[in-house]
Amino acid sequence: MCGIVGYIGFRSVSDLLLEGLHRLEYRGYDSAGIAVLADESIVVRKRAGRVSELAALVQTQPVEGTIGIGHTRWATHGGTTDENSHPHVGGNGEVVIVHNGVIENYDSLREQLTALGYVFHSQTDTEVVAHLLAHSYIEQLKLVENSDTHAAALKAVEATLTRLKGTYGICALFRDATDTIIAARSGSPLVIGVGRDEYFVASDASPLVGYTQEVVYLADSEIAVLRRDNMSITHRTSGSVQPSIQTLEQVSSDIELGDFPHYMLKEIYEQPKTIENALRGRLDDEEGTAVIGGLNLTPQQLRSIDRVVLTACGTSWHAGLVGEYLLEEFARLPTEVEYASELRYRNPPITERTLVFAITQSGETADTLAAMRECRRKGHPTLAICNVVGSTIAREADGGIYLHAGPEIGVASTKAFTSQVTVLTLLALYLGRMRHLSYPAGKRICRELRQMPEKIEEALKCHDSVKEIAEKYAGFDNYLYLGRLYNFPVALEGALKLKEISYIHAEGYPAAEMKHGPIALVDERTPSVFVVPRCGIQPKVISNMEEVKARKGPVIAIACEGDREVERIADDVIYVPEVAEYLQPLVCAIPLQLLSYHVALLRGCNVDRPRNLAKSVTVE
Ligand code: M6R
Repeated sequence: MCGIVGYIGFRSVSDLLLEGLHRLEYRGYDSAGIAVLADESIVVRKRAGRVSELAALVQTQPVEGTIGIGHTRWATHGGTTDENSHPHVGGNGEVVIVHNGVIENYDSLREQLTALGYVFHSQTDTEVVAHLLAHSYIEQLKLVENSDTHAAALKAVEATLTRLKGTYGICALFRDATDTIIAARSGSPLVIGVGRDEYFVASDASPLVGYTQEVVYLADSEIAVLRRDNMSITHRTSGSVQPSIQTLEQVSSDIELGDFPHYMLKEIYEQPKTIENALRGRLDDEEGTAVIGGLNLTPQQLRSIDRVVLTACGTSWHAGLVGEYLLEEFARLPTEVEYASELRYRNPPITERTLVFAITQSGETADTLAAMRECRRKGHPTLAICNVVGSTIAREADGGIYLHAGPEIGVASTKAFTSQVTVLTLLALYLGRMRHLSYPAGKRICRELRQMPEKIEEALKCHDSVKEIAEKYAGFDNYLYLGRLYNFPVALEGALKLKEISYIHAEGYPAAEMKHGPIALVDERTPSVFVVPRCGIQPKVISNMEEVKARKGPVIAIACEGDREVERIADDVIYVPEVAEYLQPLVCAIPLQLLSYHVALLRGCNVDRPRNLAKSVTVE
């Protein structure tokens, strides 16, 4: 969702902000802008549309300076217009801000400010904050010693934040406090980059990569004051904070496209490596188990667990469904998979023997964070399976497992899904070996897991045939995705991939459920994608394929090489390597990712930045 970047130092700030905004584009946005403090005045350039359009504007109307803030906006309050784009100026230009999040009481604040004579130029909740800050700054200036503009600016921020209800990550520049950026957060992430005589601030680390490796993750209720040569952080209630500087592991190549035309394709092809990374150091072949440090629970505590709750959104929720099957099969632990957006408002029975895991690529999804906080508030240890190191969920969880998949930039999640499934397999193996899973079974699972990077490499060989099949089917407007057992979540994930990047209506279903409703949709114009590799239940799924064919529905099958039975029925077959049933989600996800990618391209869609979507959904 919205992205923030800010800089104070010695570099030409417009270029730096524009580059930062380009790097934040993947988060999803519809307009962009920058504000630069130049010659003791604030200059704003902003417009609805892409960052490249903003860059063209800045080229025709350049702005020089070394302090500035920038923003990519994903509309919440008010349409996609130049006026609603950030930054927003407060009062008579005393302050300018960029903001992520949602101010829930903006309506009443707007009324109060209008009564005081403030004029609004946008429909955003952010402009309310800008005017409030300006108002408060003018008040504070009268109160502070020697009309100290820096002290007044900080006090104005502190006073303004007490009046806001909702979530925010804010960066502010004050016209008269010329060498300062003030940043504050509550619910929306901000990370500070520490350089030599320069500081950066951003919603995530991507704008910082290549400039600094030293970062400080701002926590909720913290306010950071950045000057060229120093930084101070205060907590709104507990006072001064000693910043904890951490090392950023990302390198420039992680966020570059290289030879790939899109991040999505790059990330699909990274999967042999990312699965290897998820497994690295986590398999104990001797003992036939997994090695999972970081859960921060003793073996005794882990053995006493009698139930698991997995909570997540979107693709991560689909990975959770695979996790449910794995944990129940290997560890015999009753497992539920909860939509985080539901769990946060429900009150399911969770006892001290329930293990709660939040699954999230970004570690910033608002609903997942809220569900995790709700569980923690009730006193349950809550762990995370997360990709982004230093993200809010990773930091707040009581322990967890990192994916080590590297930055995922394509909005459609691909490598994170297969890494999540890999990590959940390790978890099931680990908890299983503490319980009923036998030594030979554990050893076999270790062996099979070790082969996965190679199997994924093999699965990627279907690319050319998927491309041809995509050409045949790209014109259809409705799809069914069907699979059973471990392949049911894969069907859901395949349908989600197609929906989000091609804007085609697609439904994922357990194949046998089809007869209870969705079969009514089947006709010559509704292809069904069957995920039907060899498995115990395959004959049943093949019967479902027959049922679709009998109704003239086109059938695309994901199947194992040489499967004559499937070939006989399906119109088109995409082959995946044969693996154990519990590992089929990993190989079967690959052709479905590629299929959605090519269908989207053929329909002229922007695969990396699909309409209306954001990479990390930081609002409720
Ligand atoms: O970062 P998270 O894993 O918490 O994100 C959850 C969903 O928003 C995400 O998986 C979304 O569904 C993706 N766009 C799917 O490709």
